[in-house]
Amino acid sequence: MSIDKETVLAALASVQDPELKKSLVDLGMIHDIEIAGSAVKVTVALTMAECPFKDRLKEDVRSAVAAIEGVTEAKVVLTVMTSEERARIFGREPEEMEGIKEVRNIIAIGSGKGGVGKTTVTVNLAVALHQKGFSVGILDADMHGPDIPIMLGISERPLGSGGMLLPLERHGIKVMSTGVLTGEGTPIVWRGPLVNKAIKEFLGHVLWGKLDFLLVDLPPGTGDAAITVADAIPLAGVIIVTTPQKVSVSDVRRSIGLFHSKDIPILGIIENMGSMRIRTADGEIMTIDVFGAGGGEKIAKAFKVPFLGSIPLDPSIREGGDAGRPPSLNLESDVSRVFHQIVENIIPNPRIKKTL
Ligand SMILES: Nc1ncnc2c1ncn2[C@@H]1O[C@H](COP(=O)(O)OP(=O)(O)OP(=O)(O)O)[C@@H](O)[C@H]1O
Ligand SMILES: [Mg+2]
Repeated sequence: MSIDKETVLAALASVQDPELKKSLVDLGMIHDIEIAGSAVKVTVALTMAECPFKDRLKEDVRSAVAAIEGVTEAKVVLTVMTSEERARIFGREPEEMEGIKEVRNIIAIGSGKGGVGKTTVTVNLAVALHQKGFSVGILDADMHGPDIPIMLGISERPLGSGGMLLPLERHGIKVMSTGVLTGEGTPIVWRGPLVNKAIKEFLGHVLWGKLDFLLVDLPPGTGDAAITVADAIPLAGVIIVTTPQKVSVSDVRRSIGLFHSKDIPILGIIENMGSMRIRTADGEIMTIDVFGAGGGEKIAKAFKVPFLGSIPLDPSIREGGDAGRPPSLNLESDVSRVFHQIVENIIPNPRIKKTL
């Protein structure tokens, strides 16, 4: 018996979109069916590239096709619907920046190179802002290495609602990340245009609601990924994280150059891991300036940008990150004090909007 499109469509009629509870066929999500002998390839258009159910949909379609009598090979390719197609399903298409229209200040956290503590700063700063009474969200824009869910201990998946994604919430902070969409350990391969699309979806299709601050954890460096993000988001400004070694100066220069060329204001520099706190044998806390005191401050002065604060190298910070509990949650901790001071230094900046 030869396989035809009608047979495949009939088999697919039983596959439903988990959120919309309608058949993929009725929703117009089956974009193409190719049949070559006993091999069938189905192209499914998702409502969003960031669809939380994409793995499940792919598998449901694959098994429905594989179950057709005579099919020896079932392949599924995923694409994304156009705005017009989405509008047909949801009644209307959200505007490009719909998700962030009630967000007052979007601040990016960037650095010239990787591993200097951007994600650590992002989560602890978010906690400190929340403790001061602000409503806060975190957008993890590091598509290749989304660490925000790990540092906040988030493992659940977000839900969709009317074609929009609901951010997850932890410690009172709203969070969206590709890490929560694909699950931990799934390799993430993003090509340039897809990164751009995903960022746009994070701004347009996530129901952030009313927020005083949305912190954006940028990918490391001054390459394509960071530029794409900086270009796509209406930023109030950027905070640059650096370590105080001499070699960091050129990284900071490159970062500042990038953001200046995009007319993005630099809200200031945060020095991380400049000094080290250790507990001596008799229980005293000792601070060692590993690279000499004031390195970060000197860099800030040299580039004429505000110096926001210095975070010591402290094992509790790494432990808190690994355990998904930012140490600044503990109001009695030194880390919390440092981040509260950083908040005090950011708020008076005229770039920070007090109202929408
Ligand atoms: N002040 C600190 N004291 C101790 N450990 C720290 C400190 N800052 C960061 N770390 C640890 O260093 C590692 C790198 O930090 P983090 O992931 O925040 O850097 P990043 O700039 O976001 O890195 P990437 O460029 O890979 O995204 C993490 O394990 C983190 O817990
Ligand atoms: Mg990071």
